[in-house]
Amino acid sequence: METKLTALTVVLVITATVTADYVRPQPRKTLHFPWNPKSSSHPQQVHISLAGDKHMRVTWVTRDGSSPSIVEYGISPGKYSSIAQGESTSYQYLFYSSGKIHHTVIGPLEHGTVYFYRCGGQGPEFQLKTPPSQLPITFAVAGDLGQTGWTKSTLDHIDQCKYDVHLLPGDLSYADYMQHRWDTFGELVQPLASARPWMVTEGNHEEESIPLLMDGFESYNARWKMPFEESGSSSNLYYSFEVAGVHVIMLGSYADFDEYSNQYSWLKADLLKVDRRRTPWLVVLFHVPWYNSNWAHQGEGDEMMAAMEPLLYAAGVDIVLAGHVHAYERSERVYNGMPDPCGAVHITIGDGGNREGLAHWYKDPRPKWSVFREASFGHGELRMVNSTHAFWSWHRNDDDEPVRSDQVWITSVASAGCFTKNPELRKMLLAP
Ligand SMILES: [Fe+2]
Repeated sequence: METKLTALTVVLVITATVTADYVRPQPRKTLHFPWNPKSSSHPQQVHISLAGDKHMRVTWVTRDGSSPSIVEYGISPGKYSSIAQGESTSYQYLFYSSGKIHHTVIGPLEHGTVYFYRCGGQGPEFQLKTPPSQLPITFAVAGDLGQTGWTKSTLDHIDQCKYDVHLLPGDLSYADYMQHRWDTFGELVQPLASARPWMVTEGNHEEESIPLLMDGFESYNARWKMPFEESGSSSNLYYSFEVAGVHVIMLGSYADFDEYSNQYSWLKADLLKVDRRRTPWLVVLFHVPWYNSNWAHQGEGDEMMAAMEPLLYAAGVDIVLAGHVHAYERSERVYNGMPDPCGAVHITIGDGGNREGLAHWYKDPRPKWSVFREASFGHGELRMVNSTHAFWSWHRNDDDEPVRSDQVWITSVASAGCFTKNPELRKMLLAP
């Protein structure tokens, strides 16, 4: 009898070991960036972003203030058939002086084409690929990146995937007032961000205000200029863009959002411009999630949700991507706290790998709308396959291996007949 019990115990222990939950890793240290002296006019921290139809903004930094803001580009290596002149800025933050930050818009560019380019008339050649003119298109998504060993792992995994545009729902460098960390973050992401457009919105770690001395977002706005003017917004903290059949709205969790705010008026006007025949998909990003069953940052998005969720619902937003909570969570279609076939799918993906580590603790029981939740580092991939179907997958950094751990087909709100079923939706949006 005793032998049988021992054998049973061994079997149970082995089974438990094999089926045990994934052991979630500790945070990794901030990366060490060795001093790498380059000439003062050498272009550094190169990244690109979409800047209106067929145009791309190239951003880079030089230590030399007289370096020109020109970009030479063409479709063959070393042969630059076009040249564009841009603008530059710089900022002072207490005892820190930024380099010269150049912003140069190039184009018109052909869709789905590789371009070779050089910044400031010298230095290395970079190459970028423009997004396709129509569906399908693939987005890579990762928020709350920071600059640790896990960030590196996430970026390596994104680099392995074939994607067209990177979407970042806030918290980029975790510089947290240490301005040189903005520079090291720029260097860390350059290999990816110089090759595909990076479209970002602000998180709380971008706000570096000091009362009476420094306004918030000065470094972020100077370094990560997004196409807000191109989309009729008066602030770099919220804007929109269209790419290959997708209208993407980047909202600002840290800009005023009540119904009397500039952001609210701009959002309403932008939603009214959406033409579902041209852009059958409508995607929204912001930093603080509205649907979050993690105890971390619980309830922080409630006010913004109360102000803006009816607008997004009326416009038929398909997918909302947020960060802030350092974990992954996916909802089913939801509105006003309840599952709703005409609401948006909300995804929290603030698990890029920053130094603060993971948010482990969840509310119990799981809310009805929450389909999948897990506190692990990783990234997402969103492929809009055609005008009605998209495929979302979440890839966990499983001991540095990307492992697809959640996936779902998403059918568009427009094709689900929500507008025909409920004409009141459009009326809500059009109401003064
Ligand atoms: Fe955050």
